[in-house]
Order: sequence, then structure tokens, then C-alpha cells
Amino acid sequence: MKVYSIKELLSKGKNALHEEVIVKGWVRSFRSNQFISLNDGSGQNNLQIIINYSQFDTNTLKLITTASAIRVDGVVAESKGAGQEIEVVANKLKIYGHANPDDVQETILQPKRHSLEKLREQAHLRFRTNTFAAVMRVRNSLSFAIHQYFNTNGFFYVNTPIITGSDAEGAGEMFTVTNFDLDNLPKNEEGKTDYSRDFFAKKTNLTVSGQLEAEAAAMGLGKVYTFGPTFRAENSNTTRHLAEFWMVEPEVAFYDLEKDIDLAEDFLKYCIQYVVDNCKDDLDFLNKRFEEEQKQKPKEERSEQNLYEKLEFVLKNKFIRLSYTEAIDILKKSKPNQKGKFKYPIDEWGADLQSEHERYLVEKHFKTPVVLFDYPAKIKAFYMRLNDDRKTVRAMDVLFPGIGEIIGGSQREERLDVLRQKMKDLNVDEKELWWYLDTRKFGTVPHAGFGLGLERLVLFVTGMGNIRDVIPFPRTPNNAEF
Ligand code: 4AD
Ligand code: MG
Repeated sequence: MKVYSIKELLSKGKNALHEEVIVKGWVRSFRSNQFISLNDGSGQNNLQIIINYSQFDTNTLKLITTASAIRVDGVVAESKGAGQEIEVVANKLKIYGHANPDDVQETILQPKRHSLEKLREQAHLRFRTNTFAAVMRVRNSLSFAIHQYFNTNGFFYVNTPIITGSDAEGAGEMFTVTNFDLDNLPKNEEGKTDYSRDFFAKKTNLTVSGQLEAEAAAMGLGKVYTFGPTFRAENSNTTRHLAEFWMVEPEVAFYDLEKDIDLAEDFLKYCIQYVVDNCKDDLDFLNKRFEEEQKQKPKEERSEQNLYEKLEFVLKNKFIRLSYTEAIDILKKSKPNQKGKFKYPIDEWGADLQSEHERYLVEKHFKTPVVLFDYPAKIKAFYMRLNDDRKTVRAMDVLFPGIGEIIGGSQREERLDVLRQKMKDLNVDEKELWWYLDTRKFGTVPHAGFGLGLERLVLFVTGMGNIRDVIPFPRTPNNAEF
């Protein structure tokens, strides 16, 4: 007798007829003391188990309730019901864990429609729901595709530290890491906290990006990428921001910004194509969910495309590449700007672009993914390469429909003197980053890279609307439950 996952067994289909099999999973429903719908998480589809109730004692059957965990030993038979080729006729049943129906009633395991908010409140149980399990499997496939893409293209995976002393983005949005007793902080002579007595003998924080360390690695290994958790203490309670998210950061020696954008476009298309090719059942489900969700929205907010069309659209079209300056011109003249519809009106060059502006360009003006480049130096991080105009830097952002910024990257400032000046201008501590400056002293080269927020990509590919629904246990302002 072979133990099968439900996905494996269903994909064998009629080739498995008459085989004696063992399956294990959680009961989704048990109808008429006869039909169990079983799911083990391996895929979107449930396996139907047929119970000949005269064959089992009633006490056992009573324990088979929604959410309980069981093992079935049985024989594969042709299914008479619609929607499935095969089913399993049970010979033996084992109950691992019973679930009390009164308790189940209170949870999202109760088989009916629950809001995504309710699912979030029971995040420890939502892996059992069709929607969240589909998102998790797609997320898994995307992570795999990311490693596969870089691996087949000659990149080395490097692990950068999670605890660091530096603020890679220079934005001051960090969580401090300490083992001080916070109620009894050691003070120095000036009455300030004495970090020299802390665990690392300095002030440390959770990393906001592995980029600076990845740059050091690229200066020896050539092509590298990081893929790990990053932390931002920015107080933005939006559907696109997490305080803890997973970032992928490739870094390549001898690349300029054009090459960097080429890489970003090719990489995104590869990952999306991978999911289209490998996650059909889950995408079918998510597409239906997406279409139903659109129907409930007011007409002007509805997506014209279904999920598959959205994905195909990105795969087929070349991303538009446009300078920040050109984008500002378009935005200035745009209808929403003229009519005062933007929350942040665009009136002059140098303004930081908000998500509403990014989405206008992508969804209304160009109707295709857009890559903006050459941003004002003042609104971007210190490490970006200064252009000859001395006003702009070789930065790029990839903007996606429904998401806004999905990737942020740049060509790096490889000239030591210019980098030093930029750090001075932007108030970045040279002492802390002595080692980063060193990478510009011993065979410095032009190089470039970018960061992709994994959750933003998962959002796009699954058609979900809130970033809290694409990561198992979201960390957001005022929320670190579970
Ligand atoms: O644009 P960001 O801040 O760039 C960096 O961190 C660079 N060091 C990347 C690099 O060049 N190596 O962040 C990069 C991406 C964003 O485009 C977005 O997808 C994601 O990370 N991101 C977030 N995702 C979820 N929640 C947040 N709070 C995010 N902040 C950034
Ligand atoms: Mg950015």
C-alpha cells in the first residue's frame, strides 16, 4: 500500500484505478455519512472519500467532522460524481485529531465564505483555507523561481547579516537590537545610553537591506544576490507596506543602469512565467476569486483584465522606460493634477512620487509596466551614482499595475571622492561605513543592483489586494500577533 499526497493521486487519475492507497489529510466536509471531502494541503483540489457506513462503527463516524485529521486506507475507484475522475473507497479509518464542531463553528474552518480580515485574525488557521493555501503555494513557487533564475544565470546566493550597525538606506527607519535591560539603561557621562556596554559594544539594528554587504560580495564574486528578511520601522499603514518583508537583492559588478533594468525586466518576466507554467490549479482558483471580487467593486475601480490577462499583459509587453523628468512633465499636465484630484499635487521638479502618481502613469497613462530612471539626488539614497548634471542619480524604479513600485534599484556610486561628498551631503556617518568606503579603494568598478519586495510580487501574481494576505504572519504597526 502506497501513501500518496492528494495532489499526486489526483494527477495519476485513472492510472491509479483499483490501487490500494493510503491518504492522510483534514476533513473539509462530511456529507450524508457517506462522502468525505479531504484536503492535505498538497494542492487546491480535494479528494472524495466514499464511506460505506455499515462497515464502520458509529462512534468512529461521529468523530469525522469538519477540520478533523484522518488517515484513510482504501481502494481507488472511478468517480460517479462530477468534477473528479477518481475517488477512494475507504476500508479503514484512523482519526488523528478530532475537531469539536462547536469550536469549529467559531473559526474560519467552518466551510463558508469568510472575509480576508477574519482570516487574518486567525492567521494560525488560515493555511487550511483555499485562498490562503493557494497564495502560500504560489509564494513558494515564486521563491523557487527566484533561486532558479539566479542560479541558472551565474549568480551566487550570499547571506547578508540581519543584525547590523548600518542604515543601508539612510532613512532612519530601523528597529534597534539590544540586550540591555530597558528599565535600567547604562548611561555615559553625558547622560546618554552607553552602547559601548551593549552586546555588540555598539548600537545595532535589524537590517533594512542587504545591499551594502551584497556590494562587497559582488566586488569579489561578480554576480550575487541576497534573499532574506528585511525590517522597516516606517509607520505606514498601507496595503503595500510591511514592517518585516522578504527582499531579493541582486548586485552585479561591471553593470550599468541599462543592464540593471534589463536584468530586472527579464527576472520579473521569468518569475511570472514560472508561476503561469507551474501553478495552474491555484491560479485558476485565484483568478475566479479575483473576478468575483471585481464584480463587487464600483465600476470605475474594476480591473478591465482578469488575473491571467494581467499576467499575460506583463509577460508580452516591453516595459516603458522613462526619465523622472519626463514623468514629472506628464504628471504635471495630467487631468487628475489639473483638476486637483491628487492628494499630493505635482507642481515642481524634485517632488517625490507617491503611489497615486506611480499608479496613474502605469494604469492610466501608459497602461503597461513603467521603469522610471534618473531621479533627483535629493530624494534618493546616498549610494546612487551621481549623473553629470549633478542633480540626478542613476536610480530606477519598476512600477506595476495595481502595485506601484515593485522594484527599486540603481547604479552605485563607485567613485570614492563623489561617494564621500554624497555621504556628507546626506548626513551619512562615514565612520560606521568605513568598510563600505574600502570597497571603492581596492579595484572599484561600476556596478549596479536592485531590490524586489517578494510580497509585492506575490500580491501582483495572486491578484490579492492587501500585503497582509500574502505573508503567513504579517508584522505591521500595532500588530505582532502570533
Ligand atoms: O526601494 P527600496 O527601499 O530599495 C532598497 O532597499 C535597495 N537597497 C534595493 C537595492 O538596490 N538593492 O526597497 C526595494 C523594494 C521596493 O521596491 C519594494 O518592492 C520593497 O522592496 N519594499 C517593501 N515591501 C514591503 N513592505 C515595505 N515596507 C517595503 N519597503 C520596500
Ligand atoms: Mg524604493
